[in-house]
Amino acid sequence: MQRGWKLYRLGVLISGRGSNFKSIEEHIKCGYIKNAKIVVVISNKEDVKGLAIAKENNIDALFVDPKGLTREDYDKNIIEILNRYSVDFVILAGFMRVLSDHFIDSFKNRILNIHPALLPSFKGLHAQKQAIEAGVKFSGATVHFVTKDLDSGPIIAQSVVPVFDGDDEDTLSDRILKTEHKIYPLAIKLLCDNRLELENNRVKIKDYETMDENFYIINPKEDFKED
Ligand code: GRF
Repeated sequence: MQRGWKLYRLGVLISGRGSNFKSIEEHIKCGYIKNAKIVVVISNKEDVKGLAIAKENNIDALFVDPKGLTREDYDKNIIEILNRYSVDFVILAGFMRVLSDHFIDSFKNRILNIHPALLPSFKGLHAQKQAIEAGVKFSGATVHFVTKDLDSGPIIAQSVVPVFDGDDEDTLSDRILKTEHKIYPLAIKLLCDNRLELENNRVKIKDYETMDENFYIINPKEDFKED
C-alpha cells in the first residue's frame, strides 16, 4: 500500500438511516480519522435519513434509482459516479444490495463493509435474528474487505457483545450497533493510515504494539449499560 500522507477520498453507499455513515463523518470531523474525507454519499433508496445527514454536513448526497436496471447496469452507474469523484475507498454502510463482480473488480481491496455479526457466523440478512435463534451467548459486528463471496472477505476489526436471555432482534441490534459506531471508524482510520496489510485472507495491523488498547477492549460496564 501507498506510503506517505494522502487525503483519501471516501464514497459511502447507504440504503437507509445512515448511522454508521454519521459516526464515520463525526470521527473525521473530530480528527480521529485524519487522512480521509467523505466526498459523496449514494443511496439506492430515495428520501432516506442518511441522505439528509449528508446534506446537513455539506456532503454531496445522491439517490441513484435502480428501477428497471440490471445489477450490472446499476453498478456501472455507481462506478461511474465514484470515479467522477475520484473515490479511493468505497464504504458500504447499510447498503442493501449485493455488488456485481465487475464492481468488486473495479475497486479490488478498496471496498469495506460492516456486518452485524461475528463473521463467519450469520452471513446474509437478519444476522441478529439468526444469532438469537442459534442461541449464541455472544455476537457482535465485523468490518471486512469485500470480496465476491458474500460477507466473506478478510476481517479488519470485530466487536463482541453479550446476548441476554431477554433479547429480541431489536435489543440485540441496538447493542451491536453501538459497537459498529466504534469499530467502523477504527477500521477506516487504520486503512487510511496505511496500517492494514493483507496476507492471503488475513489482515495484519502494522505497528500493532502501538495501538491504543482501548480500541480493542470493550468495557462491559460502560459499553453494555442499558439506557
Ligand atoms: C447496520 O446494522 C450494519 O451492520 C448493516 O446495516 C445496518 C446499517 O445501519 N450492514 P445504518 O444505516 O448505518 O444505521
